[in-house]
Amino acid sequence: MQISYPTFAFLIAFLCSLLSSLSGVIVRYSREPVEEMEGRMLSFKCRLEYKKEDCDISAKWWHVESDAISEPITDPNRFLITVNETKKDDQRHRDIVLTFKSLSIADRGLYQCNAKCLNTQTVAKGHVLFLNVTADPHKGLKASAWSGKLKTDLTVLVLGIVLCVWYNLMALCF
Ligand SMILES: *[C@@H]1O[C@H](CO)[C@@H](O)[C@H](O)[C@H]1NC(C)=O
Ligand SMILES: *[C@@H]1O[C@H](CO)[C@@H](O)[C@H](O)[C@H]1NC(C)=O
Repeated sequence: MQISYPTFAFLIAFLCSLLSSLSGVIVRYSREPVEEMEGRMLSFKCRLEYKKEDCDISAKWWHVESDAISEPITDPNRFLITVNETKKDDQRHRDIVLTFKSLSIADRGLYQCNAKCLNTQTVAKGHVLFLNVTADPHKGLKASAWSGKLKTDLTVLVLGIVLCVWYNLMALCF
């Protein structure tokens, strides 16, 4: 039997809607890889769409270390996490925004937003997002400008002490 393209497309659409209704929650965010400079602030927004009667959800951003290992992101010193939700009829939209307060090279890596439907314990996973953090070209310059200033201050101080000792010696001898 030959399956025509429209039938096939319909089948795929049906399977997809079946899958998303099974997990009860849809996870959406940009697929674009992100590149930003260290020291900058950066936010990732994860949008969840679900129905309250189907599931109540818990969702987080994760740092993906390998296929098997992911760490939930929680450190309040480095990240700001905000959650807000709007309700329209029985449809709910929830945004989970992860903000890196100050990017570091170590933040380079893979990130993913996952949601769990608490009623059914099914998990909806977002795609894996790549974050590249580039070095700040002025970082070294700022540090050497600072140590340069420190050296100048020190020279002035030493010169001041030498002059002072010399002056005192002169006063002693004459
Ligand atoms: C959350 O708040 C932001 C800023 O006020 C708004 O743009 C966004 O639409 C809100 N999202 C939801 C799901 O309510
Ligand atoms: C990260 O960005 C740097 C600077 O733009 C680039 O040289 C490097 O190839 C990027 N790394 C990846 C894995 O894309």
